[in-house]
Amino acid sequence: MSSSLAPRGSIVPGRLFEDDAGRPVQLHGAGIRRIGDRYYAWGEDKSHGGTFGGVACYSSPDLATWTSHGHALAVTPDVPDLAPGRVVERPKVLPAPDGTYVMFLHIDSADYADARLGWAVADRPEGPYTYLRSERPLGNISRDIGVFLDDDGTGYLLSEDREHGLHVYRLSVDLLTVEEVVSTTLAPPSDHPAGPHGYESPAMIKVDGLYYLFGSDLTGWSTNDNKYATAPSPAGPWSAWNDVAPPGTATFDSQVSDVVTVPGTEQTAYVYVGDRWDRHDLFRSPPVVLPLQVAGGRADLVWRDSWTIDTTTGVIS
Ligand code: GAL
Repeated sequence: MSSSLAPRGSIVPGRLFEDDAGRPVQLHGAGIRRIGDRYYAWGEDKSHGGTFGGVACYSSPDLATWTSHGHALAVTPDVPDLAPGRVVERPKVLPAPDGTYVMFLHIDSADYADARLGWAVADRPEGPYTYLRSERPLGNISRDIGVFLDDDGTGYLLSEDREHGLHVYRLSVDLLTVEEVVSTTLAPPSDHPAGPHGYESPAMIKVDGLYYLFGSDLTGWSTNDNKYATAPSPAGPWSAWNDVAPPGTATFDSQVSDVVTVPGTEQTAYVYVGDRWDRHDLFRSPPVVLPLQVAGGRADLVWRDSWTIDTTTGVIS
């Protein structure tokens, strides 16, 4: 079901944000991170439905009031990976040590057979990004992706490969090369009657030295009970998978896309960002943005009808 827009300045899970020009914010499959004193977000512009409509970029001081920066990466007919009719999903950006920004993308054909990872780079978070190339990381198929930057500066790529599982790959220092698989996880047998596979739409955070890996089962645009596992290192060993939200709610009818760390003066808050896909109206598919309580090896999504976060203090109200 399509949704109306949330009042500007508040977060209403299941309602689209409105940008500074009154348009529905296109943060589908979003990646969000703090850069300076603002939160930058990159998402799929679904104005062309399921095929590439550009990577939209927005920024916000409070994860609720979004200013559009237009397309960070536009449809480009003479670049085969970015041409009309292609699939370009789940843009995720990391800052590189040389001060540039590296965008990772799921690059695919309309039938999802290509299953590749793409890179683009820019001098500013909002771009414009220059497209570099795509590949199958270390020869593996790669569809949904996430990224994680550790405190020591090591970058990781999280990538769904249904032939082997969900991989955590270590990236090179400049983030432009996939160096090695550090761990691969599978969904438990109860979740894969059709054969072993890992979870998709991956995201990772680190809290008090413990790594939390989030993912969704492989049900396309339909939502499911998303899971998380924990480990003392990106290399594992990973715990059993647990439900992020009350089981049976299909993660409050959403699919995880990213988890944002908000380091406040009073507390560090964690914000879950998910998609409530409407396969008949992807453009108006709303985000589900909710507080995530993370402590002592547990991560619990908390339902709020409407809420705000003070990104200076980290306090949620
Ligand atoms: C989902 C995936 C989405 C999109 C969709 C297409 O499994 O998480 O990003 O690719 O499939 O059916």
